Amino acid sequence: MSIDTLQQQTQSLAEAAQKEISEAHSTQALQEIRVKYSGKKGELTAISKEMRNLDNDEKPILGKAISEFHNVFNTHFAEKETALKEQELKAQLEAETLDVTLPGRKPTTGTRHILTQTREEIEDFFLGLGYQVVDGPEVELDLYNFEKMNLPKNHPARDMQDTFYIDDEVMLRTHTSPVQARTMETHDFDAGPLKMISPGKVFRRDDDDATHSHQFQQIEGLVIDKQVTLADLKGTLLLFARAMFGADRDIRLRPSYFPFTEPSVEADISCFKCGGAGCHICKQTGWIEILGSGIVHPDVLEMSGVNADEYSGFAFGLGIERVAMLRHNIDDIRHFYQNDTRFLTQFKGGHQ
Ligand code: DAH
Repeated sequence: MSIDTLQQQTQSLAEAAQKEISEAHSTQALQEIRVKYSGKKGELTAISKEMRNLDNDEKPILGKAISEFHNVFNTHFAEKETALKEQELKAQLEAETLDVTLPGRKPTTGTRHILTQTREEIEDFFLGLGYQVVDGPEVELDLYNFEKMNLPKNHPARDMQDTFYIDDEVMLRTHTSPVQARTMETHDFDAGPLKMISPGKVFRRDDDDATHSHQFQQIEGLVIDKQVTLADLKGTLLLFARAMFGADRDIRLRPSYFPFTEPSVEADISCFKCGGAGCHICKQTGWIEILGSGIVHPDVLEMSGVNADEYSGFAFGLGIERVAMLRHNIDDIRHFYQNDTRFLTQFKGGHQ
């Protein structure tokens, strides 16, 4: 190819490149133009390869034309690149603009289950009186659930609670009372009296309905010391009733029967709704049954290694669901276990 043709080609290549650069819409397109012209397989590279076929006096002419190409190309390229980068940054900043006046998105937080709130409130009350909170197994031995609670095999009162048996000796506990025996066995009475509560799940082979659940929660209470009397029990229950149901509450004890207490009593609180006049909550009686309790049977003490001549005590057991149902006017125990958030979120916050 003649030097003139090469010179001309170089020049028109520079013009073409210049036009393409000016029309490029992105930095990416710009990079592609660079490859197209001066990359290994680029169009200018093809012209440069002609250099070796030229005469010596023609070589500087083409050399000059090529360097002229680079000058023009690089100048336009750099200018365009700066402009495009600016444009792209601007577009990016606009796309990412934060409107600080928009209201924030609040993360949805769960609520503590109303039974948990109720249980902790009851725990706090007894902790304040110096009780300890102890745990017991949900899968329990017949020995603790029944025998040591003064319910020997074939005792008719075993039928009071329909039991989920795992085998002859092992069951799901039907009440939290077995924790009484477990705690008495390990308590060091030389170090001081025993004052404990034990909350937890219990299980009964009941058909579920508005007031029955095959699984529910109880809190057991036990105080063992020298010369504990029914008056101590009554005073404690009165304080409890007032803490949970209002300062105006009164209590009344009615004779009852439990195998593990003698005497046994059922405790009622004066109706927090009508104050005793009679309403639908207290079924026109003015009183609401709240828990079972009594003076620990001497045989129960002895079976757990406590000397009944020296020590006496009181015990009580209450249903957490029942307390929550009364306080919040909940009409069906199944609400607690259906995990319907419309029910659960009504009890926001509360006791933390
Ligand atoms: N364990 C009894 C029940 O589940 C409740 C109870 C009654 C517990 C009297 C006691 C008590 O400690 O003294 O029905």
